[in-house]
Amino acid sequence: MAKNDYKIAVIPGDGTGPEVVAEGIKVLKAVSGPSKFNLDFTEYDLGGEHYKATGETLSDSSLESLGKADAIYLGAIGHPDVKPGILEKGILLKLRFSLDQYINLRPVKLYEGVDCPLKHKGPQDIDFVVIRENTEGLYAGAGGCLKKGTPDEVAIQESINTRKGVERCIRYAFEFCRKRNKAKQLTLCGKTNVLTYAFDLWERTFYEVAEEYPDIKTDYAHVDAICMWMVKNPEWFDVIVTDNMFGDIITDLGAMIQGGMGIAAGGNINPEGVSMFEPIGGSAPKYTGKQVINPLAAICAVHVMLETLGEKEAAGRIEQAVMKVVRDDLKSLSAGKMGYSTSEVGDLVIEAL
Ligand code: IPM
Ligand code: MN
Repeated sequence: MAKNDYKIAVIPGDGTGPEVVAEGIKVLKAVSGPSKFNLDFTEYDLGGEHYKATGETLSDSSLESLGKADAIYLGAIGHPDVKPGILEKGILLKLRFSLDQYINLRPVKLYEGVDCPLKHKGPQDIDFVVIRENTEGLYAGAGGCLKKGTPDEVAIQESINTRKGVERCIRYAFEFCRKRNKAKQLTLCGKTNVLTYAFDLWERTFYEVAEEYPDIKTDYAHVDAICMWMVKNPEWFDVIVTDNMFGDIITDLGAMIQGGMGIAAGGNINPEGVSMFEPIGGSAPKYTGKQVINPLAAICAVHVMLETLGEKEAAGRIEQAVMKVVRDDLKSLSAGKMGYSTSEVGDLVIEAL
């Protein structure tokens, strides 16, 4: 049988990004044994240091070459010396938008042995996926300001929602929910009682598309109520679909109930193009180079990558290995409290494979 070849573009990025990405690559290499698939890695030097040295965030030529990869593996973007917004907009959002990664997929799953801040909730209660629209909404950058710095200053930031953008995200969520084949319930998270233009479009599209998925139960909740239920009754959720801004917020809450940033990962997905996978925790500058940060989130990002590439068997093996390590080996998922160094945790996952 012919083996699949994948060109993986790697952006280690800032802070602890390179340390955790190194562990993810170790795991990828270990799982792609002789009978599996071939991987070819190309590293890109992007991030705060590169920006400080060159004044460049993401060049057209880097973007073009990243667009030819089969997947992108990103560590973290964010630097204490660079004003907030420059690297986020210039690298992370630019990649999401230019490569039309219109889905942000974030599994929220509590593994056995992981400390959960919710009393009386366990792994049987916390296992859902958030599908966040990833190219529109408040992130589109529409708006502007007038009379900046004066008492008459006006700041406007508009949410852009297109029928096409909303519909493709909702369709992806229905398909995903069907393939996941768990409770087969898709919840739309919105704010139809206040944002009566944007979420009217979302709601109408949601119920129109739902007609084509009679096997999926539909549900709606306002974003504020979703926050409440995620804490009180997380077992109610199977798949949640929502816009960019709400998705950003509720997935941080999701990360906390699954054990924190040490384990939370996600994918920026273009189902027809190049997708990018990342731990969602950020660059954690104060831990840089100390080998104390938890690489499991970056390793879980590799799990989401292989799932998305269709390498289900290898993806499953990584998840099983991570589950074993958190259940049997680590003292905690927090930086510095794991009982092991960053690279030792990577080694434990490889042993468990
Ligand atoms: C995330 C991050 C980004 C976002 C930031 C860094 C721009 O918080 O991936 O959730 O808001 O999307
Ligand atoms: Mn976020």
